[in-house]
Amino acid sequence: MVGSVLMERMRATDGFSGLEPHFFSTSDIGGRGPDVGQGETVLEDAHDIGALGRLDAAISCQGGDYTSAVYKKLRLSGWRGYWIDAASTLRMSDEARIVLDPVNRPMIEDALAAGIRTYVGGNCTVSLMLMALDGLFRAGLVEWVSTMTYQAASGAGAANMQELVAQMAVIGTGAGPLLEDPSTTTLDLDRAVTGILRSGELPMKHFGAPLAASLIPWIDRAVERGQTREEWKGMAETNRILGTRKTIPVDGICVRVGAMRCHSQGFTVKLNRNVPLDEIEDRISRANEWVRVVPNTKEDTLRHLSPAAVSGTLEVPVGRIRKMMMGDEYLTAFSVGDQLLWGAAEPLHRMLAILREHLGR
Ligand code: HSE
Repeated sequence: MVGSVLMERMRATDGFSGLEPHFFSTSDIGGRGPDVGQGETVLEDAHDIGALGRLDAAISCQGGDYTSAVYKKLRLSGWRGYWIDAASTLRMSDEARIVLDPVNRPMIEDALAAGIRTYVGGNCTVSLMLMALDGLFRAGLVEWVSTMTYQAASGAGAANMQELVAQMAVIGTGAGPLLEDPSTTTLDLDRAVTGILRSGELPMKHFGAPLAASLIPWIDRAVERGQTREEWKGMAETNRILGTRKTIPVDGICVRVGAMRCHSQGFTVKLNRNVPLDEIEDRISRANEWVRVVPNTKEDTLRHLSPAAVSGTLEVPVGRIRKMMMGDEYLTAFSVGDQLLWGAAEPLHRMLAILREHLGR
């Protein structure tokens, strides 16, 4: 899915022009590859180290298992090409850098100049938080952040998106007829929906629980201190992407909700000084060209600050910005971003362009 979105972005930006692309597959070797304006292509074997070793740069959207299976072998074979992927496998490795160029372009430039050849997109919630709060981090205003996430089904994979819609369909089919019966009370409707959620009839192979008309406050596996791995990434990756000297604490609870491909997050930001709200909004909105401040009104929030409004776009709206009752140094805000774009494909797409610029090709 990330690969398809990357292909869309490459096509939309004429990204293949001047490249000699080879397409690889783990499942359809010998199958028909995409035509990107250079004629038909045939899918090559993604485990063929010899074929990969002939590439100047490899981009993988295949996930951590593939990176684990191939990357080391490829490097041990003597390959000195550029590896770009979106998996978490290499993010903390000394030989890799996490890329989110609107936020850390100078670090990427330094790494290229230093001969680093492995670049990895960050965790989607981390990348989307950094895009949203870029202006505050840049100004050194953040003492710590707590982020409570509302993560879309796409973050778990294509099969999970299908399962979410299949769950919706079962609920709709089961409870829908009650809507047409004027004698139905809302409590009847609720009993019907809850009955379906608990009936065991919902498809749950991938999520392991109902997500439609419900939520799942657990993403990925357990790590230490009661965190999930998704929650652990918040602090580890934020500080690595920013290259902070003094670690900024980041923590919160990551929750799966029934959105298709936009992750949303509610932030509590502890500022290290009392900054006026208009300055905060100004800094947030001017940090990069995709972030946008949504006025803290019901009308603007409903219109601009939801997965329904943002899905399929590169926009990163930040709204509900206000000081909290805890004090003037406590800021809250809410942001939404497309998990498949800024959260996955776009940093890789842009890294390839930066690499080409660096190599002059
Ligand atoms: N781990 C994320 C999620 C996916 O489950 O939503 C993108 O990093």
